[in-house]
Amino acid sequence: MDSSSSSSGSGTQTWKHSLIYLTTLLFILHLAAQTNLPRKLFLGNNETVRIKKIADLPLRFRYDGTFKILQVADMHYGTGTVTRCRDVLASEFEFCSDLNTTRFLKRLILAENPDFIAFTGDNIFGSSTPDAAESLFKAFGPAMESGLPWAAVLGNHDQESTMNREELMSFISHMDYSVSQINPSSDGHTNPTKGGMMTKIDGFGNYNLRVYGAPGSMLANSSILNLFFLDSGDRAVYQGIRTYDWIKDSQLSWLRHVSQEFQGQNQDPLHPIDASPSSKAPALAFFHIPIPEVPRLFYKNIVGQFQEGVACSRVNSGVLKTLVSIGDVKAVFMGHDHTNDFCGNLDGIWFCYGGGFGYHGYGKAGWPRRARIIHAELQKGKNSWMGVSRIKTWKRLDDEKMSKIDEQILWDRYLV
Ligand SMILES: *[C@@H]1O[C@H](CO)[C@@H](O)[C@H](O)[C@H]1NC(C)=O
Ligand SMILES: *[C@@H]1O[C@H](CO)[C@@H](O)[C@H](O)[C@H]1NC(C)=O
Ligand SMILES: *[C@@H]1O[C@H](CO)[C@@H](O)[C@H](O)[C@H]1NC(C)=O
Repeated sequence: MDSSSSSSGSGTQTWKHSLIYLTTLLFILHLAAQTNLPRKLFLGNNETVRIKKIADLPLRFRYDGTFKILQVADMHYGTGTVTRCRDVLASEFEFCSDLNTTRFLKRLILAENPDFIAFTGDNIFGSSTPDAAESLFKAFGPAMESGLPWAAVLGNHDQESTMNREELMSFISHMDYSVSQINPSSDGHTNPTKGGMMTKIDGFGNYNLRVYGAPGSMLANSSILNLFFLDSGDRAVYQGIRTYDWIKDSQLSWLRHVSQEFQGQNQDPLHPIDASPSSKAPALAFFHIPIPEVPRLFYKNIVGQFQEGVACSRVNSGVLKTLVSIGDVKAVFMGHDHTNDFCGNLDGIWFCYGGGFGYHGYGKAGWPRRARIIHAELQKGKNSWMGVSRIKTWKRLDDEKMSKIDEQILWDRYLV
Protein backbone atom coordinates (compact mmCIF):
# COMPACT_ATOMS: atom_id res chain seq x y z
CA MET A 1 0.00 0.00 0.00
CA ASP A 2 1.33 3.39 -0.98
CA SER A 3 -0.56 6.18 0.81
CA SER A 4 1.61 8.98 -0.55
CA SER A 5 0.24 8.40 -4.04
CA SER A 6 -3.32 9.35 -3.03
CA SER A 7 -4.68 12.55 -4.59
CA SER A 8 -4.24 15.90 -2.84
CA GLY A 9 -8.01 16.04 -2.11
CA SER A 10 -7.77 13.12 0.27
CA GLY A 11 -4.79 14.53 2.12
CA THR A 12 -6.57 14.80 5.47
CA GLN A 13 -7.95 11.30 4.97
CA THR A 14 -4.41 9.95 4.57
CA TRP A 15 -3.29 11.88 7.60
CA LYS A 16 -6.14 10.42 9.67
CA HIS A 17 -5.26 6.91 8.48
CA SER A 18 -1.69 7.46 9.47
CA LEU A 19 -2.77 8.53 12.93
CA ILE A 20 -5.00 5.49 13.35
CA TYR A 21 -2.19 3.31 12.10
CA LEU A 22 0.28 4.88 14.49
CA THR A 23 -2.08 4.58 17.45
CA THR A 24 -2.69 0.92 16.66
CA LEU A 25 1.00 0.31 16.38
CA LEU A 26 1.68 1.99 19.70
CA PHE A 27 -1.10 -0.05 21.29
CA ILE A 28 0.41 -3.27 19.99
CA LEU A 29 3.84 -2.22 21.22
CA HIS A 30 2.31 -1.42 24.60
CA LEU A 31 0.65 -4.84 24.73
CA ALA A 32 3.93 -6.38 23.73
CA ALA A 33 5.67 -4.70 26.62
CA GLN A 34 2.96 -5.84 29.04
CA THR A 35 2.86 -9.48 28.08
CA ASN A 36 5.59 -11.99 27.49
CA LEU A 37 4.13 -13.07 24.19
CA PRO A 38 6.46 -11.44 21.68
CA ARG A 39 9.54 -12.17 23.69
CA LYS A 40 10.62 -15.11 21.71
CA LEU A 41 13.70 -15.34 23.75
CA PHE A 42 14.38 -14.94 27.37
CA LEU A 43 17.97 -14.96 28.40
CA GLY A 44 17.46 -16.15 31.94
CA ASN A 45 16.84 -19.77 32.68
CA ASN A 46 13.16 -19.34 33.29
CA GLU A 47 11.58 -22.06 31.24
CA THR A 48 8.10 -20.72 31.83
CA VAL A 49 8.74 -17.48 29.98
CA ARG A 50 10.50 -18.47 26.84
CA ILE A 51 8.58 -19.55 23.79
CA LYS A 52 10.67 -21.62 21.48
CA LYS A 53 9.63 -23.69 18.52
CA ILE A 54 10.95 -27.11 19.33
CA ALA A 55 12.52 -29.36 16.71
CA ASP A 56 11.23 -32.86 16.18
CA LEU A 57 13.53 -35.05 18.24
CA PRO A 58 15.26 -37.42 18.27
CA LEU A 59 17.05 -36.92 15.01
CA ARG A 60 16.49 -39.96 12.87
CA PHE A 61 17.14 -41.43 9.45
CA ARG A 62 14.39 -41.15 6.86
CA TYR A 63 12.16 -43.90 5.57
CA ASP A 64 14.47 -44.11 2.55
CA GLY A 65 17.43 -44.95 4.80
CA THR A 66 19.35 -41.69 4.48
CA PHE A 67 20.33 -38.79 6.73
CA LYS A 68 21.72 -35.61 5.22
CA ILE A 69 23.64 -32.87 7.02
CA LEU A 70 24.36 -29.43 5.62
CA GLN A 71 27.58 -27.96 7.04
CA VAL A 72 27.77 -24.16 7.01
CA ALA A 73 31.21 -22.79 7.87
CA ASP A 74 32.07 -19.16 8.56
CA MET A 75 29.00 -17.14 7.66
CA HIS A 76 30.72 -14.09 9.23
CA TYR A 77 27.38 -12.32 9.46
CA GLY A 78 27.29 -8.61 10.26
CA THR A 79 24.10 -6.57 10.31
CA GLY A 80 22.51 -7.48 6.97
CA THR A 81 21.89 -5.03 4.12
CA VAL A 82 24.64 -2.56 4.96
CA THR A 83 27.37 -5.13 5.62
CA ARG A 84 29.53 -5.25 2.52
CA CYS A 85 31.03 -8.29 0.87
CA ARG A 86 34.73 -9.01 0.91
CA ASP A 87 36.74 -10.58 -1.87
CA VAL A 88 34.15 -10.59 -4.63
CA LEU A 89 34.80 -9.42 -8.19
CA ALA A 90 34.69 -5.64 -8.70
CA SER A 91 31.59 -6.13 -10.83
CA GLU A 92 29.84 -7.96 -7.97
CA PHE A 93 30.72 -5.56 -5.17
CA GLU A 94 28.00 -2.93 -5.56
CA PHE A 95 25.05 -5.25 -5.03
CA CYS A 96 26.59 -7.59 -2.53
CA SER A 97 25.92 -7.72 1.22
CA ASP A 98 25.13 -10.15 4.03
CA LEU A 99 21.83 -10.71 2.23
CA ASN A 100 23.77 -12.76 -0.31
CA THR A 101 24.82 -15.05 2.54
CA THR A 102 21.16 -15.34 3.55
CA ARG A 103 20.16 -16.02 -0.02
CA PHE A 104 22.78 -18.75 -0.41
CA LEU A 105 21.57 -20.50 2.76
CA LYS A 106 17.95 -20.40 1.57
CA ARG A 107 18.88 -21.72 -1.88
CA LEU A 108 20.91 -24.54 -0.36
CA ILE A 109 18.15 -25.64 1.97
CA LEU A 110 15.78 -25.78 -1.00
CA ALA A 111 18.24 -27.52 -3.30
CA GLU A 112 19.55 -30.15 -0.89
CA ASN A 113 16.61 -30.59 1.48
CA PRO A 114 18.85 -31.63 4.38
CA ASP A 115 17.67 -33.30 7.60
CA PHE A 116 19.92 -31.22 9.80
CA ILE A 117 22.15 -28.13 9.59
CA ALA A 118 25.49 -27.86 11.41
CA PHE A 119 27.06 -24.40 11.71
CA THR A 120 30.76 -24.72 12.48
CA GLY A 121 31.56 -21.30 13.93
CA ASP A 122 32.27 -17.69 13.03
CA ASN A 123 28.56 -17.62 12.46
CA ILE A 124 28.61 -13.92 13.13
CA PHE A 125 31.52 -11.55 12.74
CA GLY A 126 31.26 -9.79 16.09
CA SER A 127 33.21 -6.67 15.25
CA SER A 128 30.85 -5.88 12.36
CA THR A 129 27.70 -5.76 14.46
CA PRO A 130 26.69 -3.56 17.41
CA ASP A 131 24.12 -6.15 18.52
CA ALA A 132 25.01 -9.84 18.66
CA ALA A 133 21.39 -10.94 19.15
CA GLU A 134 20.20 -9.18 16.04
CA SER A 135 23.05 -10.56 14.00
CA LEU A 136 22.36 -14.11 15.25
CA PHE A 137 18.67 -13.79 14.32
CA LYS A 138 19.60 -12.72 10.82
CA ALA A 139 22.40 -15.24 10.37
CA PHE A 140 20.34 -18.23 11.54
CA GLY A 141 17.10 -16.82 10.09
CA PRO A 142 16.83 -19.22 7.15
CA ALA A 143 17.54 -22.19 9.45
CA MET A 144 14.83 -21.10 11.90
CA GLU A 145 12.36 -20.50 9.07
CA SER A 146 13.08 -23.89 7.53
CA GLY A 147 11.88 -25.70 10.65
CA LEU A 148 14.80 -28.10 10.31
CA PRO A 149 16.72 -29.04 13.43
CA TRP A 150 20.02 -27.19 13.49
CA ALA A 151 23.01 -26.83 15.77
CA ALA A 152 25.97 -24.53 16.05
CA VAL A 153 29.38 -24.25 17.65
CA LEU A 154 31.34 -21.03 18.05
CA GLY A 155 34.37 -19.82 16.15
CA ASN A 156 36.88 -17.22 17.23
CA HIS A 157 34.90 -14.17 16.04
CA ASP A 158 31.37 -14.79 17.38
CA GLN A 159 32.09 -13.21 20.79
CA GLU A 160 33.54 -9.96 19.43
CA SER A 161 30.23 -8.10 19.82
CA THR A 162 27.87 -7.71 22.78
CA MET A 163 27.78 -11.29 24.10
CA ASN A 164 30.44 -13.51 25.61
CA ARG A 165 30.75 -17.14 24.59
CA GLU A 166 28.50 -18.47 27.32
CA GLU A 167 25.78 -15.95 26.50
CA LEU A 168 26.07 -16.76 22.82
CA MET A 169 25.61 -20.50 23.34
CA SER A 170 22.74 -19.89 25.71
CA PHE A 171 21.06 -17.59 23.22
CA ILE A 172 21.66 -19.97 20.30
CA SER A 173 20.28 -22.91 22.28
CA HIS A 174 17.04 -20.96 22.82
CA MET A 175 16.45 -20.10 19.16
CA ASP A 176 13.67 -21.74 17.15
CA TYR A 177 14.43 -25.33 16.11
CA SER A 178 17.94 -25.12 17.55
CA VAL A 179 19.16 -28.34 19.14
CA SER A 180 22.42 -26.71 20.24
CA GLN A 181 23.40 -27.08 23.87
CA ILE A 182 25.61 -24.99 26.11
CA ASN A 183 27.43 -27.95 27.61
CA PRO A 184 26.78 -31.56 28.68
CA SER A 185 23.77 -31.82 30.96
CA SER A 186 24.42 -32.53 34.61
CA ASP A 187 21.80 -35.28 34.83
CA GLY A 188 24.55 -37.84 35.18
CA HIS A 189 24.00 -39.33 31.77
CA THR A 190 26.72 -37.53 29.87
CA ASN A 191 28.18 -36.02 32.97
CA PRO A 192 31.92 -36.45 33.23
CA THR A 193 31.78 -36.09 37.02
CA LYS A 194 30.70 -39.70 37.18
CA GLY A 195 33.54 -42.03 37.98
CA GLY A 196 35.72 -39.28 39.39
CA MET A 197 36.21 -37.55 36.08
CA MET A 198 36.15 -33.83 35.34
CA THR A 199 33.71 -31.72 37.26
CA LYS A 200 33.84 -28.94 34.74
CA ILE A 201 34.29 -28.82 31.01
CA ASP A 202 36.21 -26.09 29.20
CA GLY A 203 34.42 -23.85 26.75
CA PHE A 204 30.78 -23.46 25.72
CA GLY A 205 29.09 -25.60 23.10
CA ASN A 206 30.31 -29.12 23.92
CA TYR A 207 27.51 -31.62 23.35
CA ASN A 208 26.48 -34.70 21.46
CA LEU A 209 23.40 -35.53 19.41
CA ARG A 210 22.28 -39.01 18.54
CA VAL A 211 20.66 -40.00 15.28
CA TYR A 212 18.22 -42.90 15.47
CA GLY A 213 17.44 -45.60 12.91
CA ALA A 214 14.77 -45.30 10.22
CA PRO A 215 11.14 -45.23 11.44
CA GLY A 216 9.63 -48.68 11.79
CA SER A 217 12.98 -50.38 11.31
CA MET A 218 14.67 -52.76 13.73
CA LEU A 219 16.92 -49.93 14.90
CA ALA A 220 14.16 -47.33 15.19
CA ASN A 221 14.78 -47.03 18.92
CA SER A 222 18.57 -47.20 18.75
CA SER A 223 21.04 -44.45 18.24
CA ILE A 224 23.13 -45.45 15.23
CA LEU A 225 25.07 -42.29 14.40
CA ASN A 226 26.58 -39.95 16.97
CA LEU A 227 27.34 -36.29 16.37
CA PHE A 228 29.90 -34.58 18.59
CA PHE A 229 30.15 -30.81 18.85
CA LEU A 230 33.22 -29.27 20.50
CA ASP A 231 34.25 -25.75 21.38
CA SER A 232 37.70 -25.09 19.93
CA GLY A 233 37.83 -21.67 21.60
CA ASP A 234 39.15 -18.41 20.21
CA ARG A 235 42.58 -16.98 20.91
CA ALA A 236 45.16 -17.75 23.55
CA VAL A 237 48.67 -16.92 24.61
CA TYR A 238 51.00 -19.88 24.98
CA GLN A 239 54.54 -19.42 26.32
CA GLY A 240 54.26 -15.72 25.64
CA ILE A 241 53.20 -16.21 22.03
CA ARG A 242 49.77 -15.33 20.67
CA THR A 243 48.10 -18.32 19.08
CA TYR A 244 44.71 -19.93 18.58
CA ASP A 245 42.94 -21.81 21.31
CA TRP A 246 42.76 -25.59 21.50
CA ILE A 247 40.46 -28.38 22.67
CA LYS A 248 41.28 -29.07 26.32
CA ASP A 249 41.73 -32.28 28.36
CA SER A 250 38.33 -31.88 30.03
CA GLN A 251 36.67 -31.88 26.61
CA LEU A 252 38.62 -34.92 25.45
CA SER A 253 37.71 -36.81 28.66
CA TRP A 254 34.07 -36.04 28.02
CA LEU A 255 34.43 -37.20 24.42
CA ARG A 256 35.99 -40.50 25.51
CA HIS A 257 33.31 -41.00 28.11
CA VAL A 258 30.37 -40.38 25.76
CA SER A 259 31.95 -42.44 23.02
CA GLN A 260 32.36 -45.43 25.35
CA GLU A 261 28.81 -45.10 26.55
CA PHE A 262 27.51 -44.77 23.01
CA GLN A 263 29.40 -47.76 21.68
CA GLY A 264 28.53 -49.85 24.71
CA GLN A 265 24.79 -49.37 24.67
CA ASN A 266 24.35 -49.33 20.96
CA GLN A 267 24.26 -53.10 20.48
CA ASP A 268 20.84 -54.58 20.89
CA PRO A 269 21.50 -57.79 22.89
CA LEU A 270 18.57 -59.54 21.17
CA HIS A 271 19.78 -58.68 17.70
CA PRO A 272 23.56 -58.45 17.78
CA ILE A 273 24.67 -57.41 14.31
CA ASP A 274 28.10 -58.96 14.53
CA ALA A 275 30.93 -58.80 16.98
CA SER A 276 33.64 -57.29 14.76
CA PRO A 277 34.90 -53.80 15.47
CA SER A 278 33.50 -52.63 12.14
CA SER A 279 29.98 -53.18 13.44
CA LYS A 280 30.35 -50.29 15.86
CA ALA A 281 28.18 -47.31 15.10
CA PRO A 282 30.09 -44.44 13.50
CA ALA A 283 30.31 -40.88 14.78
CA LEU A 284 31.12 -37.48 13.27
CA ALA A 285 32.62 -34.44 14.96
CA PHE A 286 32.18 -30.73 14.35
CA PHE A 287 34.38 -27.88 15.58
CA HIS A 288 35.83 -24.64 14.24
CA ILE A 289 39.63 -24.50 14.47
CA PRO A 290 41.66 -27.21 12.69
CA ILE A 291 44.02 -29.36 14.76
CA PRO A 292 47.81 -28.99 14.44
CA GLU A 293 48.18 -32.14 12.29
CA VAL A 294 46.06 -30.69 9.46
CA PRO A 295 49.04 -28.85 7.82
CA ARG A 296 50.56 -32.30 7.11
CA LEU A 297 47.82 -32.87 4.59
CA PHE A 298 49.60 -30.44 2.27
CA TYR A 299 51.87 -33.34 1.33
CA LYS A 300 49.15 -35.92 1.00
CA ASN A 301 46.40 -36.78 -1.43
CA ILE A 302 43.41 -34.63 -0.69
CA VAL A 303 40.05 -34.01 -2.32
CA GLY A 304 39.46 -30.30 -2.77
CA GLN A 305 41.80 -27.35 -2.47
CA PHE A 306 44.55 -26.38 -0.06
CA GLN A 307 45.03 -22.67 -0.77
CA GLU A 308 46.12 -21.08 2.51
CA GLY A 309 48.20 -21.85 5.57
CA VAL A 310 46.32 -23.72 8.30
CA ALA A 311 45.63 -21.28 11.15
CA CYS A 312 45.75 -23.82 13.97
CA SER A 313 46.98 -23.62 17.54
CA ARG A 314 50.62 -24.02 18.50
CA VAL A 315 49.42 -26.37 21.21
CA ASN A 316 48.80 -30.00 20.36
CA SER A 317 46.41 -31.27 23.03
CA GLY A 318 46.09 -34.75 21.55
CA VAL A 319 42.77 -34.50 19.71
CA LEU A 320 43.91 -36.80 16.89
CA LYS A 321 45.31 -39.35 19.35
CA THR A 322 42.03 -39.33 21.26
CA LEU A 323 39.94 -39.72 18.11
CA VAL A 324 42.10 -42.62 16.92
CA SER A 325 41.83 -44.35 20.30
CA ILE A 326 38.05 -44.04 20.64
CA GLY A 327 37.61 -45.28 17.07
CA ASP A 328 34.04 -44.25 16.34
CA VAL A 329 34.66 -40.78 14.88
CA LYS A 330 35.14 -41.33 11.15
CA ALA A 331 35.24 -37.72 10.02
CA VAL A 332 35.70 -34.24 11.47
CA PHE A 333 34.15 -31.14 9.93
CA MET A 334 35.79 -27.79 10.56
CA GLY A 335 35.96 -24.22 9.28
CA HIS A 336 38.20 -21.24 10.05
CA ASP A 337 40.36 -21.24 6.88
CA HIS A 338 37.88 -20.03 4.27
CA THR A 339 39.82 -20.80 1.12
CA ASN A 340 40.68 -24.36 2.14
CA ASP A 341 37.83 -26.69 1.26
CA PHE A 342 39.53 -30.07 1.17
CA CYS A 343 39.11 -33.43 2.88
CA GLY A 344 42.26 -35.24 3.87
CA ASN A 345 42.90 -38.38 5.90
CA LEU A 346 45.00 -38.46 9.06
CA ASP A 347 45.51 -41.87 10.70
CA GLY A 348 42.27 -43.19 9.25
CA ILE A 349 40.11 -40.19 10.14
CA TRP A 350 38.93 -37.66 7.58
CA PHE A 351 39.36 -33.97 8.27
CA CYS A 352 37.15 -31.86 6.04
CA TYR A 353 36.82 -28.12 5.69
CA GLY A 354 33.42 -26.66 4.90
CA GLY A 355 34.92 -23.92 2.70
CA GLY A 356 33.98 -20.27 3.31
CA PHE A 357 30.23 -19.68 3.19
CA GLY A 358 29.64 -16.02 4.07
CA TYR A 359 30.21 -13.01 1.85
CA HIS A 360 31.47 -10.76 4.63
CA GLY A 361 34.21 -13.25 5.47
CA TYR A 362 37.44 -13.16 3.51
CA GLY A 363 37.55 -15.40 0.46
CA LYS A 364 38.87 -15.32 -3.04
CA ALA A 365 37.22 -13.22 -5.75
CA GLY A 366 35.96 -15.46 -8.52
CA TRP A 367 36.12 -18.56 -6.30
CA PRO A 368 32.47 -19.10 -5.33
CA ARG A 369 31.37 -19.28 -1.69
CA ARG A 370 30.51 -22.87 -0.79
CA ALA A 371 29.10 -25.39 1.67
CA ARG A 372 29.54 -29.06 2.46
CA ILE A 373 26.96 -31.83 2.47
CA ILE A 374 27.38 -35.02 4.51
CA HIS A 375 25.21 -37.93 3.51
CA ALA A 376 24.86 -41.09 5.58
CA GLU A 377 23.19 -44.21 4.18
CA LEU A 378 21.83 -47.27 5.92
CA GLN A 379 22.44 -50.92 5.24
CA LYS A 380 19.42 -52.70 3.79
CA GLY A 381 18.58 -55.80 5.84
CA LYS A 382 16.18 -58.57 4.86
CA ASN A 383 13.04 -56.79 5.99
CA SER A 384 14.25 -53.58 7.44
CA TRP A 385 16.90 -50.87 7.41
CA MET A 386 19.90 -51.66 9.60
CA GLY A 387 22.85 -49.56 10.79
CA VAL A 388 24.90 -47.01 8.85
CA SER A 389 26.72 -48.55 5.90
CA ARG A 390 28.30 -45.57 4.17
CA ILE A 391 29.05 -41.88 4.65
CA LYS A 392 29.61 -39.65 1.65
CA THR A 393 30.32 -35.96 1.20
CA TRP A 394 30.29 -33.32 -1.53
CA LYS A 395 30.19 -29.55 -1.82
CA ARG A 396 27.81 -27.05 -3.37
CA LEU A 397 28.94 -23.77 -4.86
CA ASP A 398 27.01 -20.52 -4.82
CA ASP A 399 27.10 -20.20 -8.58
CA GLU A 400 24.20 -20.11 -11.00
CA LYS A 401 23.73 -23.88 -11.09
CA MET A 402 24.73 -24.49 -7.47
CA SER A 403 27.40 -26.83 -8.85
CA LYS A 404 27.97 -30.05 -6.97
CA ILE A 405 31.68 -30.89 -6.71
CA ASP A 406 34.20 -33.23 -5.12
CA GLU A 407 31.88 -36.08 -4.18
CA GLN A 408 33.71 -38.76 -2.22
CA ILE A 409 33.13 -41.65 0.17
CA LEU A 410 34.40 -40.97 3.70
CA TRP A 411 33.51 -44.25 5.27
CA ASP A 412 32.16 -47.61 4.14
CA ARG A 413 31.46 -50.31 6.68
CA TYR A 414 32.66 -53.00 4.28
CA LEU A 415 35.80 -51.25 3.12
CA VAL A 416 37.39 -50.72 6.51
C1 LIG B 1 10.23 -17.53 36.72
O1 LIG B 1 8.93 -18.11 36.68
C2 LIG B 1 8.28 -18.27 37.91
C3 LIG B 1 6.92 -18.88 37.67
O2 LIG B 1 7.04 -20.20 37.29
C4 LIG B 1 8.15 -16.91 38.63
O3 LIG B 1 7.62 -17.10 39.90
C5 LIG B 1 9.52 -16.23 38.72
O4 LIG B 1 9.36 -14.95 39.27
C6 LIG B 1 10.18 -16.16 37.35
N1 LIG B 1 11.52 -15.61 37.48
C7 LIG B 1 11.96 -14.62 36.69
C8 LIG B 1 13.38 -14.20 36.91
O5 LIG B 1 11.28 -14.09 35.83
C1 LIG C 1 24.05 -10.80 -4.44
O1 LIG C 1 22.63 -10.82 -4.55
C2 LIG C 1 22.14 -10.00 -5.59
C3 LIG C 1 20.62 -10.09 -5.61
O2 LIG C 1 20.09 -10.19 -4.36
C4 LIG C 1 22.69 -10.48 -6.91
O3 LIG C 1 22.23 -9.60 -7.94
C5 LIG C 1 24.19 -10.49 -6.88
O4 LIG C 1 24.67 -11.06 -8.07
C6 LIG C 1 24.68 -11.30 -5.70
N1 LIG C 1 26.12 -11.22 -5.65
C7 LIG C 1 26.89 -12.28 -5.52
C8 LIG C 1 28.37 -12.03 -5.47
O5 LIG C 1 26.45 -13.41 -5.41
C1 LIG D 1 10.26 -48.68 19.36
O1 LIG D 1 9.48 -48.08 20.36
C2 LIG D 1 8.12 -47.99 20.04
C3 LIG D 1 7.41 -47.17 21.12
O2 LIG D 1 7.84 -47.53 22.38
C4 LIG D 1 7.54 -49.40 19.90
O3 LIG D 1 6.19 -49.33 19.54
C5 LIG D 1 8.31 -50.12 18.82
O4 LIG D 1 7.88 -51.47 18.72
C6 LIG D 1 9.80 -50.11 19.11
N1 LIG D 1 10.52 -50.69 17.96
C7 LIG D 1 11.52 -51.54 18.10
C8 LIG D 1 12.12 -52.07 16.85
O5 LIG D 1 11.94 -51.91 19.18
